[in-house]
Formats: sequence, structure tokens, C-alpha cells
Amino acid sequence: MKKRTIRLHCRELVEQINRLIAQMTLAEKLGQLTMTAADYAVTGPLITPVSEDAIRSGAIGNLLNLYGAGPTHRIQKIAVEESRLRIPLLLGFDALHGQRTVFPIPLAEAGLFDPAAWEATARLAAEECAGDGLNMTFAPMLDVSRDPRWGRIAESPGEDPFVGSAFARAKTRGFQSADLAGTNAVSACAKHYVAYGAINAGREYASTDMSEAMLREVYLPPFRAAVEAGVAAIMPAFTDLSGIPMTAHVHLLQNVLREELGFEGVLVTDYHAIAELLNHGVAGDLAEAAALALKAGIDIDMMSDAYRLGLPQALQRNLVAMEEIDAAVRRVLVLKERLGLFADPYRRGRSDVSVTAQSRALARDVGTRSLVLLKNDANILPLAAPKLAVIGPLADAGGEMRGPWGGAGRSEDCVGVLQGLTDAGLIVRHAPGVAIDTGDLSGVASALELCADADVILLCLGEAALMSGEAASRAYLGLPGAQQELADAVFEKAGGKPVVVVLFSGRPLAVPSLVSRAHAVLAAWFPGCEAGHAIADVLTGKVSPSGRTAVSWPRAVGQIPIFFGERPGGRPFNPKDHFTSHYSDVENTPLFAFGHGLTYGDFALSNLRVEPGNPLRVKVDVENRGARAAEETVFLFLNQKCAGVTRPVLELKGFGRIALAANARGTLTLTLPPPEGRAELFVGPSADLTSLLSLSI
Ligand code: BGC
Repeated sequence: MKKRTIRLHCRELVEQINRLIAQMTLAEKLGQLTMTAADYAVTGPLITPVSEDAIRSGAIGNLLNLYGAGPTHRIQKIAVEESRLRIPLLLGFDALHGQRTVFPIPLAEAGLFDPAAWEATARLAAEECAGDGLNMTFAPMLDVSRDPRWGRIAESPGEDPFVGSAFARAKTRGFQSADLAGTNAVSACAKHYVAYGAINAGREYASTDMSEAMLREVYLPPFRAAVEAGVAAIMPAFTDLSGIPMTAHVHLLQNVLREELGFEGVLVTDYHAIAELLNHGVAGDLAEAAALALKAGIDIDMMSDAYRLGLPQALQRNLVAMEEIDAAVRRVLVLKERLGLFADPYRRGRSDVSVTAQSRALARDVGTRSLVLLKNDANILPLAAPKLAVIGPLADAGGEMRGPWGGAGRSEDCVGVLQGLTDAGLIVRHAPGVAIDTGDLSGVASALELCADADVILLCLGEAALMSGEAASRAYLGLPGAQQELADAVFEKAGGKPVVVVLFSGRPLAVPSLVSRAHAVLAAWFPGCEAGHAIADVLTGKVSPSGRTAVSWPRAVGQIPIFFGERPGGRPFNPKDHFTSHYSDVENTPLFAFGHGLTYGDFALSNLRVEPGNPLRVKVDVENRGARAAEETVFLFLNQKCAGVTRPVLELKGFGRIALAANARGTLTLTLPPPEGRAELFVGPSADLTSLLSLSI
């Protein structure tokens, strides 16, 4: 009965939309397939009259980068009350890790290994987006990333497709909620389909190439998961895959995404991507580029104006048919209807949004849990109420804490480390020593003076927010500017006094000597607007750290790409045999394995067992032998034996968390679909093979 009602509703809807399409001029149709940036109006009160006219005439049917209840209401009103067909606008914005309330960057948030938290931050971001009058966000970013040279690793859920898939489901649910038409739901737009993370040498906007097996096992699964979770829109990547730009990739967009995965939603290009088909060298002019994109099933042209300017010519040249344009318009209008925009275009954006005590509480909780304690020699941390010398250019840098995609978050809403420590009641003296990215050493001497009087030296070092993210590839992954010199001078001056490093970055940095000289290292990534409080909570022991790294942390740039899911090869490394797989100048292993992260507890795993059934129930006992309550994260890996095609040494199949008081024990249960054939299970706190319990099944 329910199914029939839905079908009836769908039929009525399609008929209604077809009637609307029948009334549309070609220009109005192409307007619905166009999305234009309104950046210039973000801070100003009004979009320029020229664009208002374009919306009034129906030439532009969708906008990006305009937000705020006032501006979005005004512009929606023009579309709905002054354009001929009164079709509301899609209004999209990048809320990658929060809108007004900025959460940790996705790479850091992935390290919570907590789908409920991933969903909660997306839910709150969606509420804030909807409050800001938006109805679409260009998130989640689902590119599996194994190359920290690529700045966009910061936006991603890391190196593993199983994690990426869980992230995709949680984020899609969070943004869209159960009811896409809800006043606080927005359309998610999963991106960047597909394999963008594999770009050549980690250099932004370069080419990608890979086997079908790699594509299907590693890069496609998060998108499959997003489609299964009902994601309403998808953005193809800027890149080409084996010579075919994704914006024109008929096979991957039509055959795989639409037919095989069953995606029925809207395809929105990346910024200016259709026009860039000319640079790729696959189109001779804008009309050809527009035709290629339309044939591949692209519905919305973001920023190229290729559909508006090129499709009329493409029609004349018989490169496309009107039915293909209509099909794209239909998908866009269906999305607008699903978002409830025809019923009430003003349902979102009723009042201005700001950071609240409640949203800050979530940002602080998730921020705290995203911090990864990489090292803690002799349990230097938590700090025992000391006098602190806080040195480094990122100590008093609230705005940087937003990371590369700060949404609509404001610098002044962000708490830096210094403020967080002061709020926690610590006695703090501060000097930056150097700037983030200059060679000027003139401030080092005054920073060193602080060391004499301090119990502990806290070095706040790393990248500026915009050194990762889009167009921010790096070939050297050390500390920028003169920060390494500053750190070396501090280590000399400290003379054995504890030095704790808080490291900010959008990627794992290859800083082995910094790590080896420091007594403790906390990888903070970019923790968002509550950064300072979150860091103080962990440093003081108010909260035991629980974050894990969602990417393997390299020792050297030359190890990249580095990831735990390698295939075994015919000559796996054997230290006694020279002719086995190894480097002659660095170990094969990462400095910190995927999943690494210390706590203030002391966990031991034992008694790994499997209970039969479908799924299998994998159980392990966990004991906290430490003196403090803490939370342990446990991973379940599989190694499939004797398959026709070699399988990775470790494949992630599950993860779980268990919180235990001091000296408490518990049992963690993870589930696993029964593997085909012989397999070995591995369970443990990271992908470091030496830390894992194993069992043949
Ligand atoms: C980025 C996308 C983003 C879009 C809109 C592009 O440059 O690649 O990830 O969604 O801009 O801001």
C-alpha cells in the first residue's frame, strides 16, 4: 500500500514537472542547469542588479556561495515571485566540517571512528546551513586519500574505503536527515566522483590512472555507500581517469554511477569543470564541451556558463537532443521538489544563525576526541598543573583553527591554544618565536628566554590552515618556514626539561626528528572553533585522548603513497634477505600506523574468539591496566588467503570503541560477514602488525 502511494506520488510529480518543462523556453531550461557564484554578495547586503536580472529572467536557476537568512530570502523571493515560472533556486555552499560552528577537519573527525559523532556534526552543520537559507552543501568529500602531499587529504576521511563508506553513510544521513524536505535538512553532494585522491605525485589537478580492481576496491566504495544512503547529489572530480575527464565520463557516470549503483539524483559539476574540458583537450569549443558533459549525464553546470552559452549551438549542430536537456532539467526540478522548495521556498533561512553554547559543546567534544596523542614518553601528559612556556606561531592563532574549509565560521568565534590554556587556569607565558612560514629568526631569542622559568615547554607548530585543502599540494612535508630551527633551539635550551609538541596540520607531516626529540606529541590537525579548549582538556587530563590517525603517518616523503592495505608481493620484506621488498635508506613501516593513538589508559587485548553465525561475532577482551579511565579503539582486519587474485595483507572490516574505568575489563564484539575460503583475522589497536592478535578462520 505504502509503495503504491509513493509510486502514485512519483507519477503525479513527474507529470507535474513535465507540464512545467513543457512551458519552459530553452533559456529557462538552461537556467535550471546553471549554478553561478554569488561571492561578491556574501558580505554585502544585495546581489548585484545584473544577477538579480539574470534570476528574474530565469537565466540563472541556482547559486553558490550566498548565505545568510536575509540575502538568501531576498534572492529566493526574486526567483519565486518575479520570474515567469516562479521556480525556486538551489542555494549551495561548502560546509565540509561545519557551517557557523566549525568542527575538526574531516581527516581529524574520521579519527574518532564514531559514526554517531560523524552524523551529529553533519546534522548540526545542516541545521546551520538551512538556517542560513541554504538547501545544498557540497559535502561530504569522500575521496580515499593515501598521499599527504595532496592538500585535499585534509577534507577526506583518510586512506581506507571501509572507513570512507561508513563516513559516507553517516554524513549523508546527517545532512539530509530522514526528510529531505525538512526545514533543517539540506541536500548532500558527495564529491569528488571518483579517484581524485589518486592524482599523480599528489599534485593538485593532475591526472589519475589506475586498474579497474583498484577503482572498485578502493575509490568507488564510499560513493556506493553514499548512493545507498540516498545522497541527493554528486559532484564529479576535476580530474581525468585514464584519459577521460570525469566531467565527461560516460562509462563511470552513466553505466557505473547511474545504472550499476542506481544513482537517480543530480550531478553537479565542480567549479568551471565543463569549460576545462577544453584544457583537457577533449573538446574543441564550449558547445562541444557542453555536449560532452550533457551526454555523460551532468545536470548542473557550476561556473562554466557552458550550458547556457554552448548548448544552444550544440543543439543546432545536432550534438545533443532536446530530450537530453529535458532529462537533466527534470532531475533538477525533482530535487527542488524533494527539498520541499515548491511547497514552501522560504522554509529554510527563517532566522540568522550563530554559534551557540550547545553547538560549542558539540565542537568541544568532537574536537577533544579528534586529537591524536602520537607519543607520550614517561607519561609526561597529562600536565600536573605546571608553569608553561607556550612557544610557536600556532599558539595564538584562533583563526587558523578553522582549517582549510571553514564554512561560514568566523575567526573571532575560534578559541586558540593560548586562550584555551588560560581558561583552564594554567600559568602561561607566550612568545611565537617565528611566524608560520617566513625565515625570520629575530623572535627566537625572546622565545628561548621563557624556557628558564617554565616547568614544561609547549611548542605549537605546524601548517597554516590554507597550506592544506584545495590547490595546496606540498612536495616537502616538514615544518614550514623557520619552525624546525625554532624547535631545535628550544630542544637545546630546554636541557632535558619536558617539551610537548602540539602539531597542527591538514595532513601527516614527515617530521621524524621533531617527534623523536619531543617528550610528547599531540597531532591536533585543525580542531575547529573550540580548538583551544579541546587541547587544554586533553593536556590537563580533563579528558583522556582517544583520537586515532585515519592515515598512515610517513617517516619520509619518499614512502608516499603509504597505506596499510598493501598486497603482499612475491618477496615481502625479510631483514635477513637483501632481495626482498625494502628501501635501503628508510624502514618500510610508517612512523605511526593507521589507527595509532595513545590514551591515558593502558590497554591490553586478549582472548580473541569467533562465534559462528552470519555475521560472525568476533569478540576480544579488553583490560585497562592504567590508573585512569580511557577509551580504546579496536580494529578488525582480515587477510584472505589463496584467493585467485592477491588480497591486501590487511583489509579493514570493522572498528569499535570501548570506554573502561581504571583497572576495569570488558569485552568488545565486532561483526563480520563470513569470508569466502581461508582467512586470517587480526584484531588490535592499529594496523601495526606487531600490535595485532590473530586467528585463522
Ligand atoms: C572545489 C569543490 C567545491 C567547489 C565549490 C571547487 O573548487 O573543488 O570541492 O565544492 O569549488 O566551492
